[in-house]
Amino acid sequence: MQTDALVNELTATLPSYPMEELKLLSKGLRQQGKLVFDFGTGDPTLPTWEPIRQAVSRNIPEVSQYPSVLGSDELRAAHGDYLQRRFKLAINDDLAILPAQGCKEAIFHMALSLVGRAGGRRKILYPDPGYPVYRSSALFAGGIPCPITLQPEDNYLLKPWRLPREQTEGCAALWVNYPHNPTGALADEAYWRQLLAWCHQEDVILLADDCYVDLYDPVLDQGSSGLRPMTPLCFSHDRVVAFMSLSKRSGLTGYRAGFMAGDARILKPHARARANFGLGIPSFIQAGAVSAWGDDTHVEVRKKIFAERMQLAGTALMEWGLLEAIPQATFYLWCRVPASAKGDDLAFCRRLAQEGIIASPSRWLSEGISGYFRLALVPDSEGIRQALPLLKRCLL
Ligand SMILES: Cc1ncc(COP(=O)(O)O)c(C=O)c1O
Repeated sequence: MQTDALVNELTATLPSYPMEELKLLSKGLRQQGKLVFDFGTGDPTLPTWEPIRQAVSRNIPEVSQYPSVLGSDELRAAHGDYLQRRFKLAINDDLAILPAQGCKEAIFHMALSLVGRAGGRRKILYPDPGYPVYRSSALFAGGIPCPITLQPEDNYLLKPWRLPREQTEGCAALWVNYPHNPTGALADEAYWRQLLAWCHQEDVILLADDCYVDLYDPVLDQGSSGLRPMTPLCFSHDRVVAFMSLSKRSGLTGYRAGFMAGDARILKPHARARANFGLGIPSFIQAGAVSAWGDDTHVEVRKKIFAERMQLAGTALMEWGLLEAIPQATFYLWCRVPASAKGDDLAFCRRLAQEGIIASPSRWLSEGISGYFRLALVPDSEGIRQALPLLKRCLL
């Protein structure tokens, strides 16, 4: 029997999820007894901040009940306090909050409420390279995925006002992600204002994947560069939804905790839709999330650690001509493959794997961009120091 007789064509033809491929690659190398330096997935390995773990264990209930999709009062208050502290945003009738099991599911399920809006708009625009779920969520929701290639000469900023009309016509929503995975690119206030003006003029919902908004070089807290990461909600709530996560801010990828904040006219009906999706957050995870959103000290520690790793690895990669500048946010380095690889990112990543280094080829993080690879600075400084000479061997 043909596979697409049992599952639909979309599921039958979907390529494997890149991060699952990377996990398999890493496991295979370990089974061969290789010392593996895993720069593949942005899944940090630092221990969880102790008060968060205590909050979880203190709150494992004697009787377990279904959680509400709206989250506990304490959780909603913690989200509100965080938005106030970090961005000076106040929750009011225009700005709503909705908890999520991390950004991934929130991104995926958002398309279900937006595709077909405003008289049948089905296009979803998103950055390429970028997070693969922008595309897959559009597809599963019956939308039309429209990748927009980001250019290094634009500092990887997505500029929809430059696109031909045919490309943007019928656009329901647009994804942006600054700080950007995989390039680490940052947006400033002038960019946000121009983007919002375009979205308002074209009646396009702006979806800001802000999951790296708290992972940046602490020098940006002092400087006047205007590049301290912000959410577009700081400039308008009108047709904007931001997606926040504890995965990178607090290193809680396994907890599955985040939230959406934005235009109440979108999030209130979307909350009713989400009640059907089975997305309540377990109560003890909510308790851990309250503790994590309420504290900034552990975030400061993490920011410093990743900024140091970026300097360490970035300096070497710049010296070898693979990187133009060290990004000031995220923990990713988006590097060119060396000339010897002749633009073949997949072949180069296979070569790296022979040395025990796992990296993501650009074609796995994009829709056809070749010649780059991404390093997620998950190994600690010692691991990076050990891996760099092995990586250097692959340049020839
Ligand atoms: C750009 C981007 N968006 C969303 C996610 C998913 O985040 P979460 O762990 O909150 O689901 C990731 C994870 O790496 C990401 O890189």
